Amino acid sequence: MEQAQVETKEKDSNNPPAAVSSETNHDENPIATLPTREGWSTPLILYNNCWLRSHMLTKFMLVKENFKPRHDDIILATHPKSGTTWLKALAFTIVNRSRYAFADAEHNPLLTRNPQTLVPFIGAQGGELDHLETLPSPRLLATHLPFSLLPSAVTTMDCRIVYLCREPKDGFISRWHFDNKIAQGAKIDLNTAFTMFCEGCSPFGPFWDHYLQYWKESLQRPQEVRFLRYEEIVSDPLKVVRDLAGFLGVPFTEEEERSGVDQEMVRLCSFKALSSLDINRNGGVERAEGKIFIRYSALFRQGKTGDWVNHMSKDMGEKLDRLVEDKFKGSGLKF
Ligand code: A3P
Repeated sequence: MEQAQVETKEKDSNNPPAAVSSETNHDENPIATLPTREGWSTPLILYNNCWLRSHMLTKFMLVKENFKPRHDDIILATHPKSGTTWLKALAFTIVNRSRYAFADAEHNPLLTRNPQTLVPFIGAQGGELDHLETLPSPRLLATHLPFSLLPSAVTTMDCRIVYLCREPKDGFISRWHFDNKIAQGAKIDLNTAFTMFCEGCSPFGPFWDHYLQYWKESLQRPQEVRFLRYEEIVSDPLKVVRDLAGFLGVPFTEEEERSGVDQEMVRLCSFKALSSLDINRNGGVERAEGKIFIRYSALFRQGKTGDWVNHMSKDMGEKLDRLVEDKFKGSGLKF
């Protein structure tokens, strides 16, 4: 799941949370010169044009320098709130289908563990770089980092990347709900969140740079980078699962398709199936040395497309649509 918060600085309702600030102690700490903003559940800091949770910054800085990709790594790169949990479940199940019996809770980890824990985030949350070195190949890894913050060896090693993003209005609403679920202090109101999102200031934002970087990679290197939208999986999950299996080098055999193995995977990873498992209804994980507890149920809200209309005004929708059109102009990327 997305990295959650440690700091719980009080947000002063008299001051706009979108205000930009920077610390003063510049000589001693170069990070202190970076712009920070408050408003979301934790402060964000602008590092190499990407807004990161400030408490995670040092971990993420190390990824570019110290993460050692392997040529057979599979990296699930997602913009947060685009269906990371779903993609992790699908990819894990596809890749490990010869190892685990589906319906057998004793042997299929998907039935007893949250999918987020089955695919480690590079450099964070159980995916610390030293630990990743010890994992056998081929590794299935995840990241929310933009392509520009991954080591360049990811390209030269031809690692396969599956990128997942989402229609921005729905992505924004999912982000807003999630942030408020994990917030320890004040909640962010919809208008403030919307303004910040449209300014590019949201976790791992600007979202348009994130989408475009991977989009361009997928056009240049289609054999290595698969670009997916949440909406595509919703509309035809079986097609996506079959395509993913091929892309990941483990295509379904005719016999598997005849006996419905692929369909069973779609069912097992569906919103209904995953969200009703005991682990995902009642489990959760401690973060930040026990200061916070993220309920896995927060990762399963609605699982639908088009929910933005229930939260945003028509004007807001049009404003975001115009922004998206403008940012993606000429790229071929459309929603
Ligand atoms: P909503 O908030 O719109 O419901 P992430 O995993 O990247 O944090 O994304 C969370 C979004 O994916 C949430 O969207 C969540 O409900 C949805 N989601 C999680 N598991 C899903 C599944 N198996 N099928 C469809 N959507 C799923």
